[in-house]
Amino acid sequence: MEIVFATHNQHKTEEVRAILGADYRILNLPELGCPDIPETADTLKGNALQKAQYVADHYGRNCFADDTGLEVLALDGRPGVYSARYAGEGCSYQDNVLKLLGEMQGAADRRACFKTVVALILNGKTYFFEGRVDGIILPEQRGTDGFGYDPVFLPDGYDQTFAEMSPATKNSISHRGRAIQQLAAFLMDCGK
Ligand code: IMP
Repeated sequence: MEIVFATHNQHKTEEVRAILGADYRILNLPELGCPDIPETADTLKGNALQKAQYVADHYGRNCFADDTGLEVLALDGRPGVYSARYAGEGCSYQDNVLKLLGEMQGAADRRACFKTVVALILNGKTYFFEGRVDGIILPEQRGTDGFGYDPVFLPDGYDQTFAEMSPATKNSISHRGRAIQQLAAFLMDCGK
């Protein structure tokens, strides 16, 4: 089955390809020749739907899109839906991590979670899937793999950050991994 994943992010594309396996041909936005899609909603669900809807409307393809936020308890849930541009428009992953570490300096409660919402538009119908992983924000960065806030996120029950663990281990427990596993189970059910 061929399906579009509405992202320009190669890391995320590879993660999702690894989870969905060889039964699915995943095309991302550069492969489709699609420009950046605006994300103007103020919820993860709204942004995920906006991206999937854009591809369905403009390309008439079955499509899914995801949106992720890191919610930090001591920061009242920030950066949340604004995780990508926490340190400002056009900022790098490293800018965001450094801003987070600055805001968390001296914080005793370091609990946080990643949440992902996936919106799927399949044959004109819309479905949503959600994944979540809980953990803590470390006071310093550890590891070089992954992307985004991975070097400071230590998932509960593990002694490696997302940037230290293998991609397979991260995928098996991560917010996006869990949401995509639900998507995969749903697609498999549809194909029966
Ligand atoms: P997006 O909605 O997947 O683009 O995620 C928004 C932002 O959250 C990204 O720009 C990253 O900073 C962060 N993020 C998303 N997924 C991950 C992850 O798996 N690890 C670390 N940071 C992530």
